[in-house]
Amino acid sequence: MPFAEWGDEFSIGIEELDADHKKLFALLNDLKNAMDTGDAHEALGRVLSGLKLHMSFHFAHEEELLRLSDYPDYEAHYREHQAFADAVEELHRDFRIRASDALPRQAFEFLKNWLYQHSLEADRAFAEYLKANPAMLERISPASAGAVR
Ligand SMILES: [Fe+2]
Ligand SMILES: [Fe+2]
Repeated sequence: MPFAEWGDEFSIGIEELDADHKKLFALLNDLKNAMDTGDAHEALGRVLSGLKLHMSFHFAHEEELLRLSDYPDYEAHYREHQAFADAVEELHRDFRIRASDALPRQAFEFLKNWLYQHSLEADRAFAEYLKANPAMLERISPASAGAVR
């Protein structure tokens, strides 16, 4: 049973960002499944490595779209990404220095909560901004703008 489930409430209406977000959810489900069935410690290492890679790609991509669309809350959004990247880095450090039975679950809860909150608040606010400014949506993603017309 996946615990970090993607649903339409997470969709922000820009296809390529939704695809990135789904991938982040998939990584969390990978960890959840491993906690239920297998070696959670080994899985946490794999998931954190995958997460760091995918996250840096996704954040750079999303931040570019925030800038291109003149998003007024760019700075605050960028800082949320940075704080999360730092926290994930710290988790990875913890993971490497101690094999703790509790760490995979703590990490899962932390990652899930962040992903839910950031997606439903910061990323959602960006989606609302684009909805209210169709010219900006057209500028950054003509295909997505076409889909909502
Ligand atoms: Fe974001
Ligand atoms: Fe995002």
